Amino acid sequence: MTEVVETALPKVRGAALCADGVGIRFDSFQAVQNISLDIAAGEFLCLLGPSGCGKSTLLSAMAGFVTVDEGSLSVGGDRITGPDPELGMVFQSSEALFDWMTVRQNVAFGPRMRGASRAEQTKLADEYLGLVGLRHCADRFPGQLSGGMRQRVQIARVLANEPGVVLMDEPFGALDAQTRQVMQEETDRIWRASGCTVVFVTHDIDEAILLADRIAVMTAGPAASVKSVYPVDLPRPRDEDDPSAVELRRQLREDIGEEVRKALRDQGLDDASRDAEEDDR
Ligand SMILES: Nc1ncnc2c1ncn2[C@@H]1O[C@H](COP(=O)(O)OP(=O)(O)OP(=O)(O)O)[C@@H](O)[C@H]1O
Ligand SMILES: [Mg+2]
Repeated sequence: MTEVVETALPKVRGAALCADGVGIRFDSFQAVQNISLDIAAGEFLCLLGPSGCGKSTLLSAMAGFVTVDEGSLSVGGDRITGPDPELGMVFQSSEALFDWMTVRQNVAFGPRMRGASRAEQTKLADEYLGLVGLRHCADRFPGQLSGGMRQRVQIARVLANEPGVVLMDEPFGALDAQTRQVMQEETDRIWRASGCTVVFVTHDIDEAILLADRIAVMTAGPAASVKSVYPVDLPRPRDEDDPSAVELRRQLREDIGEEVRKALRDQGLDDASRDAEEDDR
């Protein structure tokens, strides 16, 4: 059971994130093209699309790690030109944690870097560890925690910087199905408590339906763009058996399936997979 400590955290006010005609190239390879998205302050947006279409590339550009070649990205109205404390990134792997630091020191790292006093660092670290239900683990090292707990530490470390936007790239991809489900529920709760804007990349349609205010589906690459955006008008916590959820899942499967088939065709893999299926019969 997660021990959640109620804290008097200041509501981190989410910042709006805007992509306007974004294009990103790697040498002559156009990864994404003409991406326009207006993400409202405090919104939870999920990004779905076939493997290799450019989701991580777009998210890395939003984090300021990758330079945009066409168009622009802005947070809270300011152009993104590089890493910015307003933009927090949660990586797929919890290896991003510092193994030689305790959990509390990991979470206090951001406040320490920006010159917060020792007392303030500890206060912030303990508050955010409380939010993710891990205050009792503050003196342990990351290697002594489970995968799900390490991902919660990573989330606390990002939130301790009090960013307006949290960017998450398949953060639960490496977790087992049950831990993943717990983490999805936790993410929903933490997002509501923190008030930040979230952009969440996933392969998992059900995960997107569970979490998102809106779901953006990308086309197959190269030169991937946004194919469609679906609002998720379902009450929270979400019921996956709600008829509207069932219908949305069907639409998303169809929409993404079309793009996955296109990607496989472009890679010359659809013939191979059809041949394999026929061989199986
Ligand atoms: N640094 C790089 N240099 C050259 N090409 C790159 C680089 N990073 C990504 N790419 C290419 O850009 C495209 C998009 O990659 P990206 O990792 O963004 O896809 P993705 O949608 O996140 O895929 P997945 O779902 O498998 O994680 C791919 O064709 C990839 O090979
Ligand atoms: Mg990726």
